[in-house]
Amino acid sequence: MVAWQEINHQVQSWLKEVRTMILAEMKQQQIQVEQKTCRTDLVTNVDREVEAFYSQKIKESFANSKIHGEECEHATGLHEHPGLFWLIDPIDGTLNFIQQEADFATMLAIFENGKPKLAYIYDVMHDELFWGGPECGVYCNEKEITPPSNCPLEKGLFAMGGNLVLHNRYNIQKIAQQSLGVRVYGCAGIEFTRVLTGKTVGYLACLCPWDYAAGTILAETLGLVVKTIDGQPVNMLSSTDVLVATKSAHKEILKAIHQD
Ligand code: IPD
Ligand code: CA
Ligand code: CA
Repeated sequence: MVAWQEINHQVQSWLKEVRTMILAEMKQQQIQVEQKTCRTDLVTNVDREVEAFYSQKIKESFANSKIHGEECEHATGLHEHPGLFWLIDPIDGTLNFIQQEADFATMLAIFENGKPKLAYIYDVMHDELFWGGPECGVYCNEKEITPPSNCPLEKGLFAMGGNLVLHNRYNIQKIAQQSLGVRVYGCAGIEFTRVLTGKTVGYLACLCPWDYAAGTILAETLGLVVKTIDGQPVNMLSSTDVLVATKSAHKEILKAIHQD
């Protein structure tokens, strides 16, 4: 086992370097945008550079590591790997990064011997680093986060992925109507941080592993519920729909999803 403090010390220094790198590239207006699968699925040179930076640092510092990242390396066997397993989303909210220069994050989730170890969601423009894990609790920068209250759906704001709204999937309109109001921030990592801090009572979206791995570790550490829409535990390498919520909101949302 590697001491969490040792990993944390290294990772926090990499994150600061990444923030400096991103801000410098934004200032120099050196951002090149490319399409991946369609006109709304974009990647930039910064996404690729950041992921390459993390991969290099991980390999230099923690030799017995496997890496699963959005842009480059795709490892398998999370639960079988006897060492550290890293999930990387170099820039989460790339559309926000390109269009708004705000509300994007860089994220890392770390597992050891198949179990959650540490997670990081760094809101670059606000310089707010959400980090932690089961061994140390959850923090925003240096301040420990207390678990949010068990707020029900009708008394809280509910957030969702944009695609669910566009196609009214999972009875999303019904869930939205039961809530106090809806929010769509366009960055899964930032959506998770709003649930962690009690600003929203839940977030439902269709996502990839690098989008939800860090948020899931932090949310579960705080006693929030993170499940698929069938109420099953999230599989960190293969789930595609994820709901994070307070216990109370979670029950109400699941009920609404499966109503006719
Ligand atoms: C996206 C964002 C967005 C979510 C998409 C993700 P990316 O990540 O997290 O909020 O709705 O499903 O793909 O591609 O910007 O890293
Ligand atoms: Ca990304
Ligand atoms: Ca993402």
